[in-house]
Amino acid sequence: MMNKKIILGVTGSIAAYKAATLVRLLVKEGAEVKVLMTNTARQFITPLTMATLSKRPVLVEFFNPENGEWNSHVKLGLWADLMLIAPASANTIGKMACGIADNLLLTTYLSARCPVAVAPAMDLDMYAHVAHQQNLSLLRLRGVHIIEPPVGELASGLQGQGRMEEPEEIVRLLQILLEKKICLSGKHFLVTAGPTHENIDAVRFIGNSSSGKMGYAIAEELAWRGARVTLISGPVSVVARHPGITLCRVASAQEMYEAAARLFPESDGAVMAAAVADFTPESRVEGKMKRGKSSLSITLTPTKDIAAYLGSIKKKNQTLVGFALEAADEHTNALKKLREKNLDFIVLNSLNDPNAGFNVDTNKVCIIDRTGREATYELKSKIEVAKDIVNKLSEWANRIES
Ligand code: CTP
Repeated sequence: MMNKKIILGVTGSIAAYKAATLVRLLVKEGAEVKVLMTNTARQFITPLTMATLSKRPVLVEFFNPENGEWNSHVKLGLWADLMLIAPASANTIGKMACGIADNLLLTTYLSARCPVAVAPAMDLDMYAHVAHQQNLSLLRLRGVHIIEPPVGELASGLQGQGRMEEPEEIVRLLQILLEKKICLSGKHFLVTAGPTHENIDAVRFIGNSSSGKMGYAIAEELAWRGARVTLISGPVSVVARHPGITLCRVASAQEMYEAAARLFPESDGAVMAAAVADFTPESRVEGKMKRGKSSLSITLTPTKDIAAYLGSIKKKNQTLVGFALEAADEHTNALKKLREKNLDFIVLNSLNDPNAGFNVDTNKVCIIDRTGREATYELKSKIEVAKDIVNKLSEWANRIES
């Protein structure tokens, strides 16, 4: 973000206090920040705080009533490399969607030629209201990047979606927007995620404890870099928030295979992060099995290897990425999978690394590509690991193109 020029628009919301942290983080990253505030925003946080942190006067009005000095929204719009509105109230989002220009922030938005990102902040019912959702859809259609609010506790004390995304995460997403060289717009990727459930009877299944967090983080990262993503997900409780992600829910390995086989030919590649069951019951008992037996044997048959199938039909311009979770002989096993499934690169994680792999928020990986190049990363959050994987995928996809 060094020397990037960023306009931060602050509107009237209780989350305005987070805008102070945002400025501090952006300045720390080397960005030049100009803060524009609406009149209502001034009631939540003072221009003095924002001016001190941004090291520049804060602009609110079209002109200074003392000396008539004009704050040109046109110049501001041309100056910026990026405009962020955070927090963005329902009122401002509605006005942006309608092209209303009754304050400096809105006129600057209409004059801006740079990418614009918006971090909404409001109560859950306002956020879910169809009028507001239609306004967001309109803005999205016009290319505005919406930083979806996470689900959590709101200032009203209610729980739901509406609180502004945390400043650290917003800065991370802005970095992606500014890193144009790794932009993936126009690309379509598949991501498989989560476990599969192989039914024994109507209520029981064989499954595993994959949380889906790694695959979902990869899907989010790809979508943030402009790619269209189809996320083929087994049963998980995590949610996909980016509007560029189309969710395709499946339960069994067979369903995941069918979805992946259908969608892969039209894609630019796939990241196979799902923990697919290797075996499934040969037959499913109708209804619910009764106890009454002294022992029970279930005959299992192998499932289809989805990654291997995609590897067998992969075209030259497609990239295929696999995962290997290994307990022993990690490298040898990962290389074998890389070769046998015709992958372009494989993400190896070891069961022997504490806090890596299944059902945790962190991971420690080593990425090996089919030319033999290999990079080992330290233990990081799955969100950060997703960034490393997508960096590698972008490099690889660009290599294919050139
Ligand atoms: N995979 C798949 N379909 C399967 C099994 C695995 O697409 N039926 C994919 C996984 O998503 C992962 C890679 O293949 O990207 C390796 O999965 P892993 O479970 O580590 O290996 P397996 O091939 O199942 O071999 P094993 O369990 O014997 O280690």
